[in-house]
Amino acid sequence: MKKIIKNIAELVQVEKKPKKWVAGSEMSNIQTIKDAYLEIENERITDFGCMKEWKGIDDWNNIEIIDAEEGTVFPSYCDSHSHIVFSHSREQEFIDKINGLSYQQIAEKGGGIINSAIKLRNTTEENLYESALNRLKEVTLLGTGAIEIKSGYGLNLESEIKMLRVIKKLKETSPITIKSTFLAAHAVPPEYKNNKDQYLDLIIDKMLPVVAKENLADYIDIFCEVGYFDVKDTIKLLSAAKNYNLKAKTHVNQFNSIGGVKACVNMGALSVDHLEEMKEKDFEALINSKCMPTILPSCSFFLSIPYSPARKMINLGLPIALASDYNPGSSPSGNMNFISSLGCIKLKLKPEEVINATTINTAYAMGEEKSLGSISIGKKANLFITKKIPSYSFLHYSFGQNLIKDIIINGNKIT
Ligand code: NIG
Ligand code: FE
Repeated sequence: MKKIIKNIAELVQVEKKPKKWVAGSEMSNIQTIKDAYLEIENERITDFGCMKEWKGIDDWNNIEIIDAEEGTVFPSYCDSHSHIVFSHSREQEFIDKINGLSYQQIAEKGGGIINSAIKLRNTTEENLYESALNRLKEVTLLGTGAIEIKSGYGLNLESEIKMLRVIKKLKETSPITIKSTFLAAHAVPPEYKNNKDQYLDLIIDKMLPVVAKENLADYIDIFCEVGYFDVKDTIKLLSAAKNYNLKAKTHVNQFNSIGGVKACVNMGALSVDHLEEMKEKDFEALINSKCMPTILPSCSFFLSIPYSPARKMINLGLPIALASDYNPGSSPSGNMNFISSLGCIKLKLKPEEVINATTINTAYAMGEEKSLGSISIGKKANLFITKKIPSYSFLHYSFGQNLIKDIIINGNKIT
Protein backbone atom coordinates (compact mmCIF):
# COMPACT_ATOMS: atom_id res chain seq x y z
CA MET A 1 0.00 0.00 0.00
CA LYS A 2 1.16 3.50 -0.80
CA LYS A 3 1.51 5.92 2.13
CA ILE A 4 1.72 9.67 2.10
CA ILE A 5 2.89 11.86 4.94
CA LYS A 6 1.35 15.29 4.56
CA ASN A 7 1.58 18.53 6.52
CA ILE A 8 5.32 18.26 7.22
CA ALA A 9 6.55 21.64 8.48
CA GLU A 10 10.11 20.73 7.47
CA LEU A 11 11.59 17.58 5.94
CA VAL A 12 15.16 17.35 7.18
CA GLN A 13 18.28 15.73 5.65
CA VAL A 14 16.91 15.19 2.15
CA GLU A 15 19.35 14.04 -0.49
CA LYS A 16 18.82 14.15 -4.26
CA LYS A 17 22.21 12.55 -4.87
CA PRO A 18 22.96 10.20 -1.99
CA LYS A 19 26.41 10.50 -0.45
CA LYS A 20 28.49 7.84 1.26
CA TRP A 21 29.34 10.20 4.12
CA VAL A 22 30.04 13.88 4.73
CA ALA A 23 33.31 15.32 6.03
CA GLY A 24 34.91 18.57 7.14
CA SER A 25 33.12 21.81 6.22
CA GLU A 26 30.51 19.79 4.26
CA MET A 27 29.20 18.58 7.59
CA SER A 28 27.64 22.02 8.13
CA ASN A 29 25.33 21.51 5.15
CA ILE A 30 22.02 19.78 5.24
CA GLN A 31 19.17 20.10 2.75
CA THR A 32 15.63 20.56 3.98
CA ILE A 33 12.23 21.15 2.37
CA LYS A 34 9.66 23.31 4.13
CA ASP A 35 5.93 22.54 3.87
CA ALA A 36 6.66 19.10 2.48
CA TYR A 37 5.14 15.70 1.66
CA LEU A 38 6.74 12.27 1.54
CA GLU A 39 5.57 9.16 -0.32
CA ILE A 40 6.33 5.60 0.75
CA GLU A 41 5.73 2.32 -1.07
CA ASN A 42 6.97 -1.18 -0.25
CA GLU A 43 8.81 0.06 2.85
CA ARG A 44 10.89 2.52 0.81
CA ILE A 45 10.81 6.26 0.15
CA THR A 46 9.43 6.76 -3.37
CA ASP A 47 8.98 10.52 -3.60
CA PHE A 48 9.15 13.73 -1.60
CA GLY A 49 8.92 17.43 -2.23
CA CYS A 50 7.09 20.65 -1.53
CA MET A 51 3.32 20.32 -0.93
CA LYS A 52 2.68 22.95 -3.63
CA GLU A 53 4.38 20.73 -6.21
CA TRP A 54 2.64 17.52 -5.21
CA LYS A 55 1.23 15.74 -8.28
CA GLY A 56 -1.73 14.24 -6.35
CA ILE A 57 -2.97 10.66 -6.34
CA ASP A 58 -4.52 8.51 -9.09
CA ASP A 59 -5.90 5.73 -6.93
CA TRP A 60 -7.41 6.89 -3.64
CA ASN A 61 -8.54 3.33 -2.76
CA ASN A 62 -5.20 1.92 -1.82
CA ILE A 63 -3.57 4.68 0.10
CA GLU A 64 -2.87 5.60 3.72
CA ILE A 65 -2.52 9.24 4.65
CA ILE A 66 -0.38 10.10 7.66
CA ASP A 67 -0.85 13.62 8.97
CA ALA A 68 2.40 15.05 10.36
CA GLU A 69 0.32 17.89 11.92
CA GLU A 70 3.08 20.39 11.14
CA GLY A 71 5.74 18.36 12.88
CA THR A 72 9.28 18.12 11.52
CA VAL A 73 10.40 14.88 9.86
CA PHE A 74 13.92 13.51 10.36
CA PRO A 75 15.48 10.29 9.05
CA SER A 76 15.85 7.83 11.95
CA TYR A 77 19.07 7.89 13.90
CA CYS A 78 21.57 5.16 13.05
CA ASP A 79 23.33 4.17 16.27
CA SER A 80 26.56 2.55 15.08
CA HIS A 81 27.96 1.50 18.49
CA SER A 82 26.09 -0.23 21.30
CA HIS A 83 26.31 -3.07 23.82
CA ILE A 84 22.60 -3.57 24.55
CA VAL A 85 22.84 -7.29 25.29
CA PHE A 86 23.74 -7.45 28.98
CA SER A 87 22.25 -9.13 32.03
CA HIS A 88 22.53 -6.64 34.90
CA SER A 89 22.78 -2.93 35.45
CA ARG A 90 25.81 -1.66 37.43
CA GLU A 91 24.51 1.18 39.58
CA GLN A 92 26.72 0.11 42.49
CA GLU A 93 29.71 1.13 40.34
CA PHE A 94 27.91 4.38 39.59
CA ILE A 95 27.89 5.06 43.33
CA ASP A 96 31.59 4.07 43.55
CA LYS A 97 32.21 6.65 40.83
CA ILE A 98 30.31 9.32 42.75
CA ASN A 99 32.54 8.46 45.70
CA GLY A 100 35.62 9.17 43.63
CA LEU A 101 36.75 5.88 42.07
CA SER A 102 37.77 5.95 38.39
CA TYR A 103 36.61 3.48 35.70
CA GLN A 104 40.03 1.78 35.90
CA GLN A 105 39.94 1.56 39.73
CA ILE A 106 36.47 0.00 39.59
CA ALA A 107 37.72 -2.55 37.03
CA GLU A 108 40.74 -3.36 39.24
CA LYS A 109 38.47 -4.26 42.15
CA GLY A 110 36.46 -6.74 40.05
CA GLY A 111 33.88 -4.37 38.63
CA GLY A 112 33.56 -3.25 35.04
CA ILE A 113 33.42 -5.58 32.06
CA ILE A 114 34.40 -8.63 34.16
CA ASN A 115 31.50 -7.96 36.54
CA SER A 116 29.10 -7.93 33.57
CA ALA A 117 30.69 -11.11 32.16
CA ILE A 118 30.30 -13.11 35.36
CA LYS A 119 26.64 -12.17 35.53
CA LEU A 120 25.94 -12.79 31.85
CA ARG A 121 27.47 -16.27 31.96
CA ASN A 122 24.77 -17.21 34.48
CA THR A 123 21.89 -15.74 32.49
CA THR A 124 19.88 -17.76 29.98
CA GLU A 125 19.70 -16.88 26.29
CA GLU A 126 15.95 -16.30 26.67
CA ASN A 127 16.37 -13.81 29.52
CA LEU A 128 19.12 -11.98 27.65
CA TYR A 129 16.91 -11.81 24.58
CA GLU A 130 13.93 -10.44 26.53
CA SER A 131 15.91 -7.69 28.24
CA ALA A 132 17.75 -6.69 25.05
CA LEU A 133 14.47 -6.62 23.14
CA ASN A 134 13.05 -4.22 25.72
CA ARG A 135 16.07 -1.94 25.30
CA LEU A 136 15.68 -2.14 21.56
CA LYS A 137 12.00 -1.12 21.80
CA GLU A 138 12.93 1.71 24.15
CA VAL A 139 15.55 3.18 21.75
CA THR A 140 13.29 2.66 18.73
CA LEU A 141 10.71 4.89 20.42
CA LEU A 142 13.45 7.49 20.91
CA GLY A 143 14.10 7.67 17.16
CA THR A 144 16.72 5.01 16.49
CA GLY A 145 16.01 3.14 13.24
CA ALA A 146 19.22 1.09 12.99
CA ILE A 147 21.67 -0.13 15.59
CA GLU A 148 24.94 -2.02 15.82
CA ILE A 149 25.14 -4.42 18.79
CA LYS A 150 28.31 -6.01 20.19
CA SER A 151 29.05 -9.18 22.10
CA GLY A 152 31.85 -8.88 24.67
CA TYR A 153 30.28 -9.73 28.02
CA GLY A 154 30.68 -13.49 27.59
CA LEU A 155 34.46 -13.76 27.32
CA ASN A 156 34.34 -17.51 26.70
CA LEU A 157 33.21 -19.56 23.73
CA GLU A 158 29.84 -20.56 25.13
CA SER A 159 28.78 -17.14 26.37
CA GLU A 160 30.12 -15.11 23.45
CA ILE A 161 28.17 -17.39 21.09
CA LYS A 162 25.14 -17.04 23.39
CA MET A 163 25.32 -13.25 23.06
CA LEU A 164 25.72 -13.40 19.29
CA ARG A 165 22.76 -15.77 18.98
CA VAL A 166 20.69 -13.27 20.95
CA ILE A 167 21.71 -10.54 18.49
CA LYS A 168 20.85 -12.86 15.59
CA LYS A 169 17.39 -13.45 17.07
CA LEU A 170 16.94 -9.69 17.55
CA LYS A 171 17.82 -9.23 13.87
CA GLU A 172 15.15 -11.75 12.91
CA THR A 173 12.42 -10.30 15.11
CA SER A 174 13.00 -6.56 15.26
CA PRO A 175 11.81 -4.29 12.46
CA ILE A 176 14.85 -2.01 12.78
CA THR A 177 18.12 -2.74 10.99
CA ILE A 178 20.70 -4.47 13.21
CA LYS A 179 24.40 -5.17 12.68
CA SER A 180 26.29 -7.61 14.88
CA THR A 181 29.88 -7.23 16.13
CA PHE A 182 32.06 -9.91 17.74
CA LEU A 183 33.90 -8.39 20.72
CA ALA A 184 35.36 -11.33 22.67
CA ALA A 185 38.53 -9.21 23.00
CA HIS A 186 36.73 -6.79 25.32
CA ALA A 187 38.74 -7.79 28.44
CA VAL A 188 40.86 -10.71 29.60
CA PRO A 189 38.57 -13.01 31.65
CA PRO A 190 39.64 -14.02 35.19
CA GLU A 191 40.51 -17.59 34.17
CA TYR A 192 43.16 -16.18 31.78
CA LYS A 193 44.49 -13.51 34.15
CA ASN A 194 48.22 -13.09 33.39
CA ASN A 195 47.67 -15.22 30.29
CA LYS A 196 46.32 -12.76 27.78
CA ASP A 197 48.07 -14.38 24.81
CA GLN A 198 46.34 -17.69 25.43
CA TYR A 199 42.98 -15.96 25.60
CA LEU A 200 43.66 -14.18 22.30
CA ASP A 201 44.60 -17.53 20.74
CA LEU A 202 41.36 -18.99 22.05
CA ILE A 203 39.43 -16.18 20.35
CA ILE A 204 41.29 -16.69 17.08
CA ASP A 205 41.49 -20.48 16.99
CA LYS A 206 38.26 -21.55 18.68
CA MET A 207 35.74 -18.73 18.70
CA LEU A 208 36.22 -17.03 15.32
CA PRO A 209 35.67 -20.22 13.28
CA VAL A 210 32.35 -20.86 15.06
CA VAL A 211 31.25 -17.24 14.68
CA ALA A 212 32.02 -17.42 10.96
CA LYS A 213 30.48 -20.85 10.42
CA GLU A 214 27.20 -19.83 12.05
CA ASN A 215 27.33 -16.44 10.34
CA LEU A 216 26.91 -14.70 13.68
CA ALA A 217 28.81 -11.45 13.11
CA ASP A 218 29.14 -8.65 10.59
CA TYR A 219 32.17 -7.04 12.25
CA ILE A 220 35.10 -7.67 14.61
CA ASP A 221 36.01 -5.44 17.56
CA ILE A 222 38.75 -5.23 20.23
CA PHE A 223 39.33 -2.93 23.21
CA CYS A 224 42.80 -1.59 22.34
CA GLU A 225 43.78 0.05 25.63
CA VAL A 226 46.33 -0.08 28.43
CA GLY A 227 45.35 -2.96 30.71
CA TYR A 228 43.23 -4.66 28.03
CA PHE A 229 44.73 -5.43 24.57
CA ASP A 230 47.70 -3.73 22.90
CA VAL A 231 48.42 -2.77 19.31
CA LYS A 232 50.16 -6.07 18.57
CA ASP A 233 47.09 -7.99 19.79
CA THR A 234 44.88 -5.72 17.71
CA ILE A 235 46.81 -6.38 14.51
CA LYS A 236 46.85 -10.12 15.23
CA LEU A 237 43.10 -10.32 15.81
CA LEU A 238 42.14 -8.07 12.90
CA SER A 239 44.39 -10.06 10.55
CA ALA A 240 42.79 -13.32 11.64
CA ALA A 241 39.30 -11.82 11.25
CA LYS A 242 40.13 -10.74 7.68
CA ASN A 243 40.31 -14.41 6.73
CA TYR A 244 36.61 -14.57 7.58
CA ASN A 245 35.80 -11.28 5.83
CA LEU A 246 35.04 -9.51 9.09
CA LYS A 247 35.84 -5.80 8.90
CA ALA A 248 36.83 -4.00 12.07
CA LYS A 249 35.01 -1.48 14.22
CA THR A 250 37.25 -0.98 17.22
CA HIS A 251 37.46 0.60 20.68
CA VAL A 252 40.56 2.83 20.64
CA ASN A 253 41.98 5.85 22.50
CA GLN A 254 39.40 5.89 25.30
CA PHE A 255 42.00 6.52 28.01
CA ASN A 256 45.37 6.43 26.22
CA SER A 257 46.74 7.02 22.74
CA ILE A 258 48.88 3.93 22.12
CA GLY A 259 48.87 3.66 18.31
CA GLY A 260 45.54 1.86 17.94
CA VAL A 261 44.09 4.37 15.48
CA LYS A 262 46.91 3.98 12.97
CA ALA A 263 46.98 0.20 13.30
CA CYS A 264 43.22 -0.06 12.74
CA VAL A 265 43.22 2.36 9.80
CA ASN A 266 46.06 0.35 8.22
CA MET A 267 44.04 -2.82 8.72
CA GLY A 268 41.11 -1.26 6.80
CA ALA A 269 38.80 -0.68 9.79
CA LEU A 270 35.36 0.69 8.94
CA SER A 271 35.35 2.80 12.10
CA VAL A 272 37.48 3.64 15.13
CA ASP A 273 35.39 4.49 18.15
CA HIS A 274 35.85 6.54 21.37
CA LEU A 275 38.86 8.79 20.50
CA GLU A 276 38.79 10.77 23.74
CA GLU A 277 42.62 10.88 23.89
CA MET A 278 44.11 11.93 20.56
CA LYS A 279 47.71 12.74 19.59
CA GLU A 280 48.81 14.32 16.31
CA LYS A 281 49.72 10.93 14.85
CA ASP A 282 46.17 9.72 15.45
CA PHE A 283 44.64 12.59 13.48
CA GLU A 284 47.21 12.09 10.72
CA ALA A 285 46.37 8.40 10.43
CA LEU A 286 42.71 9.24 9.79
CA ILE A 287 43.28 11.80 7.06
CA ASN A 288 42.52 10.39 3.56
CA SER A 289 41.36 7.09 5.03
CA LYS A 290 37.96 5.41 4.60
CA CYS A 291 37.67 4.88 8.34
CA MET A 292 34.87 6.71 10.21
CA PRO A 293 36.03 8.42 13.45
CA THR A 294 33.19 7.72 15.87
CA ILE A 295 32.66 9.73 19.04
CA LEU A 296 30.66 8.53 22.05
CA PRO A 297 29.88 11.69 24.05
CA SER A 298 27.59 10.07 26.62
CA CYS A 299 30.54 7.96 27.78
CA SER A 300 32.52 11.16 28.47
CA PHE A 301 29.46 12.61 30.19
CA PHE A 302 28.83 9.55 32.38
CA LEU A 303 32.45 8.75 33.30
CA SER A 304 33.52 12.41 33.55
CA ILE A 305 36.42 11.81 31.16
CA PRO A 306 37.50 14.28 28.45
CA TYR A 307 35.32 14.79 25.40
CA SER A 308 36.76 13.82 22.04
CA PRO A 309 38.20 16.76 20.03
CA ALA A 310 35.39 16.73 17.47
CA ARG A 311 35.89 20.31 16.26
CA LYS A 312 39.55 19.69 15.53
CA MET A 313 38.68 16.60 13.50
CA ILE A 314 36.13 18.49 11.41
CA ASN A 315 38.54 21.40 10.94
CA LEU A 316 41.08 18.90 9.59
CA GLY A 317 38.53 17.87 6.97
CA LEU A 318 37.61 14.59 8.65
CA PRO A 319 34.10 13.16 8.96
CA ILE A 320 32.77 12.26 12.41
CA ALA A 321 29.97 10.01 13.58
CA LEU A 322 28.19 10.14 16.95
CA ALA A 323 26.84 6.99 18.58
CA SER A 324 25.39 6.06 21.99
CA ASP A 325 27.70 3.27 23.28
CA TYR A 326 24.62 2.11 25.27
CA ASN A 327 26.09 -0.27 27.90
CA PRO A 328 25.77 -0.85 31.67
CA GLY A 329 29.21 0.51 32.61
CA SER A 330 30.02 3.69 30.72
CA SER A 331 26.77 4.82 29.09
CA PRO A 332 23.55 3.39 30.52
CA SER A 333 21.43 5.25 27.96
CA GLY A 334 20.84 4.80 24.25
CA ASN A 335 18.96 8.06 23.78
CA MET A 336 20.29 9.52 20.52
CA ASN A 337 18.39 12.77 21.17
CA PHE A 338 20.54 13.28 24.24
CA ILE A 339 23.67 12.27 22.28
CA SER A 340 22.70 14.94 19.74
CA SER A 341 22.35 17.60 22.44
CA LEU A 342 25.72 16.60 23.90
CA GLY A 343 27.17 16.94 20.41
CA CYS A 344 26.11 20.59 20.35
CA ILE A 345 26.66 21.46 24.01
CA LYS A 346 29.87 19.59 24.81
CA LEU A 347 31.51 18.89 21.44
CA LYS A 348 30.60 22.37 20.13
CA LEU A 349 29.07 21.00 16.97
CA LYS A 350 26.42 22.85 14.97
CA PRO A 351 23.00 21.16 14.75
CA GLU A 352 23.63 20.45 11.05
CA GLU A 353 26.92 18.73 11.90
CA VAL A 354 25.16 16.67 14.55
CA ILE A 355 22.43 15.64 12.10
CA ASN A 356 25.03 14.42 9.60
CA ALA A 357 27.01 12.73 12.39
CA THR A 358 24.01 10.77 13.70
CA THR A 359 22.44 9.78 10.36
CA ILE A 360 24.49 9.42 7.16
CA ASN A 361 27.88 9.09 8.87
CA THR A 362 26.69 6.50 11.38
CA ALA A 363 24.90 4.69 8.54
CA TYR A 364 28.30 4.48 6.80
CA ALA A 365 29.90 3.28 10.04
CA MET A 366 27.55 0.29 9.99
CA GLY A 367 27.70 -0.38 6.25
CA GLU A 368 24.16 0.86 5.66
CA GLU A 369 24.69 4.17 3.86
CA LYS A 370 22.97 2.90 0.73
CA SER A 371 19.72 2.13 2.55
CA LEU A 372 19.63 4.47 5.56
CA GLY A 373 20.88 7.80 6.90
CA SER A 374 18.91 10.30 4.85
CA ILE A 375 15.59 11.03 3.18
CA SER A 376 16.40 9.80 -0.28
CA ILE A 377 14.43 7.95 -2.98
CA GLY A 378 14.94 4.20 -2.67
CA LYS A 379 16.15 4.30 0.92
CA LYS A 380 14.24 2.56 3.72
CA ALA A 381 11.37 4.63 5.10
CA ASN A 382 12.78 4.80 8.65
CA LEU A 383 12.00 8.19 10.10
CA PHE A 384 10.41 10.08 12.93
CA ILE A 385 7.91 12.90 13.15
CA THR A 386 8.31 15.47 15.92
CA LYS A 387 5.70 17.49 17.72
CA LYS A 388 5.31 20.97 16.25
CA ILE A 389 8.68 22.67 16.89
CA PRO A 390 9.93 26.14 15.87
CA SER A 391 12.96 24.82 13.93
CA TYR A 392 15.00 21.62 13.60
CA SER A 393 17.65 22.97 15.99
CA PHE A 394 15.00 22.96 18.72
CA LEU A 395 15.54 19.18 18.93
CA HIS A 396 19.17 19.62 20.01
CA TYR A 397 18.47 22.67 22.18
CA SER A 398 15.72 20.92 24.19
CA PHE A 399 18.07 18.44 25.86
CA GLY A 400 16.44 15.70 27.92
CA GLN A 401 13.02 16.21 26.36
CA ASN A 402 11.28 13.76 24.09
CA LEU A 403 9.85 15.73 21.18
CA ILE A 404 9.08 12.69 19.01
CA LYS A 405 5.43 12.13 18.19
CA ASP A 406 5.48 9.29 15.65
CA ILE A 407 7.96 6.65 14.57
CA ILE A 408 7.90 5.07 11.12
CA ILE A 409 10.01 1.97 10.48
CA ASN A 410 10.07 0.29 7.06
CA GLY A 411 7.13 2.52 6.14
CA ASN A 412 5.01 1.35 9.08
CA LYS A 413 3.86 3.62 11.86
CA ILE A 414 4.78 1.89 15.09
CA THR A 415 3.44 4.47 17.56
O1 NIG B 1 32.67 1.34 25.06
N1 NIG B 1 35.42 0.65 26.86
C1 NIG B 1 35.03 -0.47 26.58
N2 NIG B 1 33.77 -0.89 26.49
C2 NIG B 1 32.61 -0.16 26.84
C3 NIG B 1 32.33 -0.17 28.30
C4 NIG B 1 32.08 -1.50 28.80
C5 NIG B 1 31.66 -1.59 30.23
O2 NIG B 1 32.14 -0.84 31.09
O3 NIG B 1 30.85 -2.48 30.48
C6 NIG B 1 32.69 1.24 26.27
O4 NIG B 1 32.78 2.23 27.00
FE1 FE C 1 31.68 0.56 23.51
